[in-house]
Amino acid sequence: MDSLKLSTILLSLLSLAIITQAQDPTYLSHYCPNTTTFTTNSTYQANLNLLLSSLSSNSTRNINGFYNVSAGKDPDEVYGMFLCRGDVSNSVCRNCVNFATKDVLEKCPIEKVAMIWYDECELRYSNRNIFSTVDQDFTIFKSSPNNVTVQPESFNQLVETTIYDIAARAASAPSGAKKFAVQQANYTGVQKLYTLVQCTPDLSTAGCSRCLEGAISKLGNCCDRKQGGRVIFASCNFRYELYEFYNATAAAEAVPPPSPATPSPPPASGSKTSGKGKVDNILFNCHVVL
Ligand SMILES: *[C@@H]1O[C@H](CO)[C@@H](O)[C@H](O)[C@H]1NC(C)=O
Ligand SMILES: *[C@@H]1O[C@H](CO)[C@@H](O)[C@H](O)[C@H]1NC(C)=O
Ligand SMILES: *[C@@H]1O[C@H](CO)[C@@H](O)[C@H](O)[C@H]1NC(C)=O
Ligand SMILES: *[C@@H]1O[C@H](CO)[C@@H](O)[C@H](O)[C@H]1NC(C)=O
Ligand SMILES: *[C@@H]1O[C@H](CO)[C@@H](O)[C@H](O)[C@H]1NC(C)=O
Ligand SMILES: *[C@@H]1O[C@H](CO)[C@@H](O)[C@H](O)[C@H]1NC(C)=O
Ligand SMILES: *[C@@H]1O[C@H](CO)[C@@H](O)[C@H](O)[C@H]1NC(C)=O
Repeated sequence: MDSLKLSTILLSLLSLAIITQAQDPTYLSHYCPNTTTFTTNSTYQANLNLLLSSLSSNSTRNINGFYNVSAGKDPDEVYGMFLCRGDVSNSVCRNCVNFATKDVLEKCPIEKVAMIWYDECELRYSNRNIFSTVDQDFTIFKSSPNNVTVQPESFNQLVETTIYDIAARAASAPSGAKKFAVQQANYTGVQKLYTLVQCTPDLSTAGCSRCLEGAISKLGNCCDRKQGGRVIFASCNFRYELYEFYNATAAAEAVPPPSPATPSPPPASGSKTSGKGKVDNILFNCHVVL
C-alpha cells in the first residue's frame, strides 16, 4: 500500500518535472547549400565549434535577443549570429539558441554556411562577414491552408497596410536596438488581425526598411487571402495571423507602441463568420525558393 502511495507521488513528481521542463523550440526550416563544405578536423570545423559555443554561452547575456560573433582567422574565419523573436523571454531565447547550436550540426554537418529557423529564434553562420548586411537570398514562405471568406480583397489590403506601418516603426529603432514591432487591427467585428515584423538589430534603418519592403512585396506569392502567413529572410521577417500568436504584454514591454493616432481602414460589417476564435496554427510550407 505504502509503496503504491509512494509510486503515485513519484509519478506525479515526474509528470510535474516533465511539464516544467523547457520545451524544444518549434522548428520551421533550415538552409545550408552543400556547395561549400569543410572536412572533418579542419580548422574551419574547430572555429565553427568555438563560434557555436560562444553563441550558446552568450545566449544568457544577449542584448535585445541578438548576439553576433566571429571565430578564427581569415581563411577559416566563421561569422555567426542569433536573433530571438522580440517578445520571447530570456529563458525561452536561451533555450532556443542552445537547441539550435546542436540541431544545426545535425541538419548541416559539413556545410560552411547555414541558417536555421524556429518560431522563437533564428541562428546562422557563414564563412563570409554577414554582419550589418541585408541578406534576402533565401526565402521561406509559410501560409495557413485556410482562406478568409469575408471581403478577401480588403483583408489582403489590411494585411499589407498594417505590416507596412509596423515595418516603418521597427526600422526606425536606433542602431543596435530591437528592430521589432507588433500591431493588431480590426478585420471583421469579431476577428482581429495580429501582425509582427522584425529585423536583425545590426541593420541600419535603411537596411531594415529595404529588407522588410522586399518581404512585403512577396505577400501575393505567399499569402493571398490566407488566414495566416509569413515571409522569412535571413535578415528580416514578418508574420500575421487571425489569432494572437505573440505575447502582447512582453511585446509592449520590449518596444513601447506609438501614441494611438493611426487607425487602419476597417473593412466589412461581417456577413458570414468563417470559423471563429483561435484558428489553426498549423502552417504549411508552401514553397521554398532560392
Ligand atoms: C548536395 O546536395 C545535392 C542535392 O540535395 C545532392 O544530390 C548531392 O549528393 C549533395 N552533395 C554532397 C557532396 O553531399
Ligand atoms: C579527427 O580527430 C580525432 C581526434 O584527434 C581522430 O580520432 C579522428 O580519426 C580524426 N578524423 C579524421 C577524419 O581525420
Ligand atoms: C561570449 O562567449 C565567449 C566564449 O564563451 C566569452 O569569452 C565572451 O566573453 C562572451 N561575450 C560576452 C559579451 O559575454
Ligand atoms: C557584431 O557586428 C558588428 C557590425 O554590425 C561588428 O562591428 C562587431 O564587431 C560584431 N561583434 C563581434 C563580437 O564580432
Ligand atoms: C483556399 O483557396 C485555394 C485557392 O482558391 C484553394 O485551392 C484551397 O482549397 C482553399 N483552402 C481551403 C482550406 O478551403
Ligand atoms: C477595433 O474596434 C474596437 C471596437 O469595435 C475599437 O474600440 C478599436 O479602437 C478598434 N481598433 C482599431 C485598431 O481600429
Ligand atoms: C507574457 O509576457 C509577460 C511579461 O513578460 C509574462 O509575465 C507572461 O508570463 C507572458 N505570458 C505568457 C503566456 O508567456
